Amino acid sequence: MLGVCYYPEHWPKSYWADDAKKMVELGITYVRIAEFAWSRLEPKEGVLCFDWLDEAIAVLAGEGLKVVMCTPTATPPKWLIDKWPEILPVDPVTGSVRGFGSRRHYDFSSDVYLRESLRITDLLARRYGKNDAVVGWQTDNEICAHETAVSASDVALRAFRKWCQQRYGDINTLNAAWGNVFWSMEYSDFDDIELPFRAVTEVNPSHSLAYKRFSSDQVVSYHDQMVKLIREHAPNRFITHNFIPFDETEVDNFGICKDLDFASYDSYPLGRTDMYFSGADAQSFRPYMRTGHPDLATYYHDQVRGLTGKDFWIMEQQPGPVNWAPSNTRPAPGMVRFWTLEAFAHGASCVSYFRWRQAPFAQEQMHAGLLRSDNSKTETWQQIEQVNEELKHLDLLSHETEMASVAILTSADQFWFTKIERQSDNYDCDDIQLSYYSALRALGININFISIESDFSQYSLILAPCLPDFDDAFISKCEASKAVFVFGPRSGSKTAEFGCPATLPPGPLQKILPMKILSVETIRKDCPEKFIWKGTEYESQIWREEIESYYSKNTNVVAEYCEGESGSQRTPAVVRNGAAIYIGTLTCEAFLRDFFQELCDELNIITFDVLDNIRVRQRGGLRFAFNYSNREVNLSLPDNVRLLLGGNTVKPRDVTVWVKT
Ligand code: GAL
Repeated sequence: MLGVCYYPEHWPKSYWADDAKKMVELGITYVRIAEFAWSRLEPKEGVLCFDWLDEAIAVLAGEGLKVVMCTPTATPPKWLIDKWPEILPVDPVTGSVRGFGSRRHYDFSSDVYLRESLRITDLLARRYGKNDAVVGWQTDNEICAHETAVSASDVALRAFRKWCQQRYGDINTLNAAWGNVFWSMEYSDFDDIELPFRAVTEVNPSHSLAYKRFSSDQVVSYHDQMVKLIREHAPNRFITHNFIPFDETEVDNFGICKDLDFASYDSYPLGRTDMYFSGADAQSFRPYMRTGHPDLATYYHDQVRGLTGKDFWIMEQQPGPVNWAPSNTRPAPGMVRFWTLEAFAHGASCVSYFRWRQAPFAQEQMHAGLLRSDNSKTETWQQIEQVNEELKHLDLLSHETEMASVAILTSADQFWFTKIERQSDNYDCDDIQLSYYSALRALGININFISIESDFSQYSLILAPCLPDFDDAFISKCEASKAVFVFGPRSGSKTAEFGCPATLPPGPLQKILPMKILSVETIRKDCPEKFIWKGTEYESQIWREEIESYYSKNTNVVAEYCEGESGSQRTPAVVRNGAAIYIGTLTCEAFLRDFFQELCDELNIITFDVLDNIRVRQRGGLRFAFNYSNREVNLSLPDNVRLLLGGNTVKPRDVTVWVKT
């Protein structure tokens, strides 16, 4: 269940056999290779050098290791770029070409690049598709990382015009859909359409949205074709892709995943935590600087699992300090083991470490590996030996990932809409989604991430922290479901083309929630107002909606804003109609936790009283507790449990696993 990312082309051949032996000794099963190796596979146009890769696979297979083969498409070689410079993407902000010299220097709209990607993929898939040692495939690498989903190139512009023609049919339909009469932005022909960048002031949000949708479609189509080709030549092998956090790439990951066997994630808890806390005070950051934020890694694990609804892989697991965050701390002792177990608790079926040996050259010299570049073992080595032994006792594979009864609805749309129309510098859709997730996690329950296309039938509680755009079909699904739905502010606030619904927000939601949003105000983060729920005051922050509720027979005002000079004037803040609840404001952690606790009680969802900095997760019959704090915590487990790992008292940064007897 463990793997490693290996770059045989970075090392003398004389290392390979010893590396393979050591991997086996360490308990590694899977080795991911060839990810960035295009210049070694095809150093010149048409000159193919696959012998070294044949040999590397044979060496690994000789030790019984299983290979995950990658397409090297994230790194087109120099000769390819020189021959077809149109492959290079163009930066939307500066308008300059993003050149050769690192990676991901390609444009998803380039037909030439698509052709070349399929050519190299075809060569690899034909050669290794039926190789017994090659058990699976990874497409590309971290698709759309480094902000590469969107390009402002000529090829992209031409493709966008075509995309618009297909979507809108005639130019007046497009003009009407985008509201181009405003500021005289009307076009007379699809060939007149410009890119939504570098205008004098803000561009039309409908235009920006269309461009994001188009860019995402280009990515999905590029990726689909690669997957199809691999499938043709690699029967009965899995195909996956290694994702990074979704708010960063802003593409439709559900779309990318539809033909994959499962999704994978590259997990760098400390790098991500450092970025998450950038700008925060030292006091809040310091407790997590060597452990990672207790909800952040799993927030992504649960999202990745949600992409296919199946167990996932960690394709790259941070092994020590990385090189790309604002500051790059060393993990606290034992954290690599801790993260590994946590990933398995959340449904991983393999955790693969990045990378085998630290590189003494090029861009990532400061990034740890399992070995140092002089072949000495890092402190992580022993942790992997330990976790490998522990996994044998846990028998994880016979414990299916727990089917959660609570889900969070997520989409690429929510990022597109809310990043295009900010209305407040402090409105951050990802933070809001994370705050809902953290509040639920504090109740000790398993959480799934789903899309509006998913099957809702297994859920008792579905939360939509930010879902600006949906149609009547979604409402019918809600009505048919047995779940209670909680909608956050901005739900149903936009039409598909980025307009305001004719009946005012929450648009289609009015069918199940008889209410209207009359106005929205955004306020400074440090100037929260108040609302009152069940006699307790909570914070109303950043985003506040004025709600007109029709007070139909079943509609209740659940919580009220405290308005006016004295705060004594009450207006609706949270409204409920049967199984639909609308929260009209962003709010504090305390409210979310209290409110969700009450809903769980109402719906008979079992919660656990989780102590601060302890996180729990269930996988089948296994229950895991993770202690993120630096002190011992007593779990007060009942008598009818059998401990499989750790004790009733969890040491700092340690893990306890038990089953009920
Ligand atoms: C990942 C990437 C790897 C390597 C790693 C460093 O995002 O896939 O190739 O760059 O980061 O942490």
